[in-house]
Amino acid sequence: MKGIVFTEFMDMVEQGWGMEMVDDLIDATNPASRGAYTSVGTYDLNELVGYVVELSRRLDAPVPALVKAFGVFLAGSFVKKFPVFFASARSTFDVLREVDRHIHVEVRKLYPDAELPVFSYRDVDADTLELIYESTRNLPDLAEGLIEGCAGHFNEILRIERTSVQMEPVPQVVFVITRVA
Ligand code: HEM
Repeated sequence: MKGIVFTEFMDMVEQGWGMEMVDDLIDATNPASRGAYTSVGTYDLNELVGYVVELSRRLDAPVPALVKAFGVFLAGSFVKKFPVFFASARSTFDVLREVDRHIHVEVRKLYPDAELPVFSYRDVDADTLELIYESTRNLPDLAEGLIEGCAGHFNEILRIERTSVQMEPVPQVVFVITRVA
């Protein structure tokens, strides 16, 4: 996983629970990287999983909720750090339709070894988008948080349902997203 994801995660932890919590997570999980990340580096996803599990233990909060919260935070960071991807979009659906064919294509130019998910979509009607997420990393909670974070940016309220999950050959989750307001 690219270092930018790790540095953003540590920023979220620091902003939410302080620098001491960042140090505690690193001390408790003893990662090979020693917790020193650069945005262009590549690191073991298990280090991130370790932090989330440890944070979950310390806060007594469920792992999926923390991963989703990180997705919301990450969307806010992307809006600030990559405003160009949001400039011509007027809604979350506009962004989601562009993730696979544009945003992540540009991300790959920036980080050639990025391991990106595959998204496809179907417009059900003006207020409903079906988004299919496929990834061997299998991080649907992160995807859902990113979607909610985008909704926050556009001041939209979305209802997000996960309608099906397949594990083989590649984990796949279908989100049915309805714009409520
Ligand atoms: C400006 C917008 C975006 C940028 C710059 C961006 C960038 C990235 C980067 C750098 C990674 C890590 C790849 C790696 O570590 O190898 C990533 C992964 C990911 N992105 Fe995006 N992304 C953006 C928008 C979105 C949106 C809107 C979604 C919607 C759901 C999304 C879903 C994901 C997911 C779920 C992953 C985790 C990897 C996986 O599931 O396989 N991204 N993205």
